[in-house]
Amino acid sequence: MSQDKLWGGRFSQPTDKFVEEFTASIDFDQRMYRYDIQGSIAHCRMLARQAIIADAEATTIIAGLESIRADIEAGNFEFKVSLEDIHMNIEARLIERIGAVGGKLHTGRSRNDQVALDVRLYLRDELATILGYLDRLQEALLDQAAANLDVIMPGYTHLQTAQPVLFAHHMLAYYEMLRRDAGRLADVKKRLNYLPLGAGALAGTTFPIDREFVAEQLGFDGVTRNSLDSVSDRDFAVEFCAAAALIMMHLSRLAEELILWSSADFHFIDLSDAFCTGSSIMPQKKNPDVPELVRGKTGRVYGNLISLLTLMKSLPLAYNKDMQEDKEPLFDSIDTVKGSLKVFADMIAQMAVRAAEMRIAAARGFSTATDVADYCVRKGLPFRQAHEVVGKTVRYCIEQGKDIPELSLAEFRQFSPLIEADIYDFVTLEASVNARRATGGTAREAVERELKRARDERRNKS
Ligand code: ARG
Repeated sequence: MSQDKLWGGRFSQPTDKFVEEFTASIDFDQRMYRYDIQGSIAHCRMLARQAIIADAEATTIIAGLESIRADIEAGNFEFKVSLEDIHMNIEARLIERIGAVGGKLHTGRSRNDQVALDVRLYLRDELATILGYLDRLQEALLDQAAANLDVIMPGYTHLQTAQPVLFAHHMLAYYEMLRRDAGRLADVKKRLNYLPLGAGALAGTTFPIDREFVAEQLGFDGVTRNSLDSVSDRDFAVEFCAAAALIMMHLSRLAEELILWSSADFHFIDLSDAFCTGSSIMPQKKNPDVPELVRGKTGRVYGNLISLLTLMKSLPLAYNKDMQEDKEPLFDSIDTVKGSLKVFADMIAQMAVRAAEMRIAAARGFSTATDVADYCVRKGLPFRQAHEVVGKTVRYCIEQGKDIPELSLAEFRQFSPLIEADIYDFVTLEASVNARRATGGTAREAVERELKRARDERRNKS
C-alpha cells in the first residue's frame, strides 16, 4: 500500500479518494503555515532543552522547518490534499527533507493541541492588523470632525428631523463605537493569549515537557490549565467573531448613512469616485458600491458567528473533527472585517462634506421647536404645557407656510404671553446647537472637548 499518510500504520486500505478531499483542510488552513512553523520551532527548542531530543537533532529540525518556510514563501511548496492539513504537509515535507529525525518533532505533541496553538497564534497576529485598520478609520473620523467643526446638519430620530447637531458630533458618535470595538478586540487577546500546547491529544503527555518555556518563547501570558479544555476550547474564535459582528454592525450603520447622504435627495456628502461605480445603462448614476457592499457583508460576518456557535454546541470533550469547521468562518470574518475597515478608512478620509446642503436641511422640519419649549420652561411653564404651546405653534407654522424663526413676536405670543423678544436668540441653528453644552452634547465647546480628549487618549496610547 503506497499511502503517504503519517498515520497509515493501522490501516490496510487506502482512504477513498473523495473522502480524502472531503476531509482535508489544507485548502484553507495553509494560511497558518507561518504559525505552524513558529510553534514547531518553539516546541523543538523545548524538546532539546528538556533533553527529550538531542541538541543536534533540534538544530537539524529547526533548519529544516526554516527552509520549508522559505520554500512556502517563495511559492516552491506543493500542498497535498492527501496530506490532509497544514500540520501534516509540513511534517511530511520535513521528514522528506531531513530524514527520519524529522519524525522526532511530533514527540509530546498532537495535532489537536498543535491546531489549537496555530489558530491562536494566527488570530493574535490578525488582531493586531485589524486594530491597526480600526485605528486608521478612527483617525479619519476625527480628521473629518476637526475639519468640519462649523458644519451643522439635521439630527434625526425615526429618520425625521429632530434637532440640529454638529456634523463633527455625528462623526464622533462613530468614533465612540469603534473605541468600544477596539476594547473588545483587546479583550479577545487577553483570554486568547495562553498556550494550549502540551495538552497532547487530550490528556497531557508522558514526556517531561516545559510548557512555560514554550509559552514564553511564543509571547503568551501563560499556559492553559486543563488539557481537555485546551484542545476543545474555541471560545477565543467565538469571541472574535462576536467582536467582528459588532464592528460590522457599526460599519453597516455608517454605510447606510453614507448611502443616504450621497443620494441626490440628501446630497450631504460626495464620496470620492474611487469608491463608486457607474451604471451600464443610466449615464447619470454614481453608485456608492463600497458602503453598499460593506452593509451587505455584515450578513456573512453575523452568519460566521452563528456557524461557530452552532458548530461548538453540544460537542463532547475533547477534540472532534467537527472543529476543523471552525476555520472558514473565522478566516472569513477576519478577511471581511479587515477589508471593510481598510476601505472605510480611505473612503472616510476622502469624503467631501457639503456644508450648505446640510445647513439647509438642518433648518427644515422645525428643528428648533424643542428650543422654544425649553425657553418657555425657563420662563416658568411646566414642560408638558410648553410642549403643547410649541405643538400649536408648529401647527400654525405649517398652516401659514412659515418656519419658526420667521414668526413675528405677536404671532409667537398668540401661543404664550411668556414669549418675549429674546426668543430669536434661541431659535437659530447655532443657538440650538451651542445650548447643549453638558458632556456628550452637541455644543461646539462640548464637541471640541471630546475631540481633544480623543486625540489625547490616542497620543497616550502610542
Ligand atoms: N486539521 C485538523 C483541524 O483543523 C487538525 C487537527 C486534527 N486532529 C485530528 N485528530 N484529526 O481540526
